[in-house]
Amino acid sequence: MPVPIPDSVDYVLLDEATIEQRVQEMADEISSDYEGIRNEDFLLVGVLKGAFIFLADLSRRLTVPHRVDFIALSSYPDEEVEVSGAVRLIMDTRSDVAGRHVLIVEDITDTGYTLRYLYRLFEARDPASLRTAALLTKPDRREVEVPLHYVGFSIPDVWVVGYGLDFADRFRTLPYIAALKPRVYEG
Ligand code: IMP
Ligand code: MG
Repeated sequence: MPVPIPDSVDYVLLDEATIEQRVQEMADEISSDYEGIRNEDFLLVGVLKGAFIFLADLSRRLTVPHRVDFIALSSYPDEEVEVSGAVRLIMDTRSDVAGRHVLIVEDITDTGYTLRYLYRLFEARDPASLRTAALLTKPDRREVEVPLHYVGFSIPDVWVVGYGLDFADRFRTLPYIAALKPRVYEG
């Protein structure tokens, strides 16, 4: 049964099949780049909460062994789309990062502050290598440069929800990625 489209949704930007195909392509590329790696050497770090669905789908499509860990950050206060540039660490990873190949898995890069913060955080922990994967990027919104190694889709400057992405912790479990009606986030 298809999930009904909520009234707050303006239009579907990326449907399930489109996302699935692109995640498979990303997984193929990552699997090929990390070919031959040992399970204990390869760590995917998912950024909570937004990346949980992307990470689940991506990791299950990787053909190389890897471990999974999570980190939680906050950059926007609830109900606010305004950018503060202030990133807060809420929960750190449990894994030892030193000497391991780390791939940060993020839902979306917007201003770039979050990924830059994470990149610096992990860089300081002496990983064997450090790369980033983001399902989405909004290039028009970028304020700081961030190293992006694997990107799913470049999207316009609209607030999107679904496939893990939220607005005020809502709409995360929609199977597609949709633009919200501006009135929803403009209040
Ligand atoms: P940045 O620090 O501005 O790059 O923001 C990155 C974070 O903001 C992402 O991890 C998301 O949690 C959130 N974010 C940015 N744009 C969107 C969006 O369109 N929908 C949902 N979350 C977003
Ligand atoms: Mg996020």
